[in-house]
Amino acid sequence: MTAAQSPAAPAARRRTEWGTVALVGATGAVGRELLGVLAQRGHRIGELRLLASARSAGSRLPALGAEHEVREVSREALAGAALVYFCASADVSREFAPAAAEAGAYVVDNSSAFRAAPSVPLVVPEVNPGAIGPSDRLIANPNCSTIILLVAVTPLHRAFGVDRMVVSTYQAVSGAGDPGLDALREETAALSRNEPPRPTFFPEPCAGNVFIHESPTDPATGRNAEEQKMIDETRKIWGDATVRIAPTCVRVPVMRAHCESVCLTLREPAAEAEVRRLLAHAPGVRVVDDRAARAFPTPLRAAGGDDVLVGRIRPDESQPRDGERFFGFELFISGDQLRKGAAQNAVQVAELLPG
Ligand SMILES: NC(=O)c1ccc[n+]([C@@H]2O[C@H](COP(=O)([O-])OP(=O)(O)OC[C@H]3O[C@@H](n4cnc5c(N)ncnc54)[C@H](OP(=O)(O)O)[C@@H]3O)[C@@H](O)[C@H]2O)c1
Repeated sequence: MTAAQSPAAPAARRRTEWGTVALVGATGAVGRELLGVLAQRGHRIGELRLLASARSAGSRLPALGAEHEVREVSREALAGAALVYFCASADVSREFAPAAAEAGAYVVDNSSAFRAAPSVPLVVPEVNPGAIGPSDRLIANPNCSTIILLVAVTPLHRAFGVDRMVVSTYQAVSGAGDPGLDALREETAALSRNEPPRPTFFPEPCAGNVFIHESPTDPATGRNAEEQKMIDETRKIWGDATVRIAPTCVRVPVMRAHCESVCLTLREPAAEAEVRRLLAHAPGVRVVDDRAARAFPTPLRAAGGDDVLVGRIRPDESQPRDGERFFGFELFISGDQLRKGAAQNAVQVAELLPG
């Protein structure tokens, strides 16, 4: 089923009761966020197993009103789980996720390990909840920039068809997890002491700097892996291999929440009022677009919230128009990539699973 055919609203069913739930990567930036999201969304869990690497084994984390000991991930630690969230590296997911799914658990994977696999649904609940089939056990969470983009743009794709998107990202350092946050804190302190800029984690200094996403650049295409993911994952989620996307992915010295500048070319022209009305009613979207008060999406407004903020909504008058209807529209969006771009999306996916 393509995104255009999927129901616009998330499925009415919302599973929040589980037996044994395991969280791999519980000590990391996404894992800790996920524990907060479970509590906020009222999940009731029989047994919660917090798992990470051997480095964290024996440490303790508060979750759902109790203290839990962190254990090293292993097949034994996953045995008997009804649901496993993976919030560690792609290598860890490759090693443990298929076996957990074969053993009968539902698996929601935040890593990139299985996103491209044709047999694995890649799901944003506001966009393609119908992609999860009755026999699917392993579901992949898309890349954070892609999730945030598609929550904002899919309502317009459903109504008018998106032919082309030019997307420029402004990505927070926590998109690279706790080491990214540590790097920005440390380098900002060094900068304030007037020390020469020095990279501590990313290939470039992150404090006082803006640099192209650190993922490897394909020497043939010139695109980095983050940009390629936005193209491939959007096409898979929309079930539309023809949509044309020109992304540029960039890190900025922001702790949390990504921004994206989006320039759309629609297949059918739209009036600005129609675009605004669709976005105002879109699930997971909050329009923040007050020209008089100069209030638009920012990372600080988006951080910690559930919604993708959408603003700077305006026709692109450099593209063709049909009277007061425009083929081109521009948006500026911001979303918390640790929440909607990862933990919250994963929990929403679990809520779609049969109980
Ligand atoms: N950060 C984001 O905004 C974001 C958004 C979307 C998707 N993701 C994806 O989510 C995953 C987690 O990212 P993150 O940002 O939370 O990273 P992070 O802060 O670096 O946390 C990594 C987690 O993985 C655990 N881990 C590392 N090696 C392990 C091993 N060998 N076995 C078991 N656990 C291991 C760590 O445990 P220890 O504490 O024991 O080392 C930690 O809990 C990644 O696949 C990432 O690509 C992240």
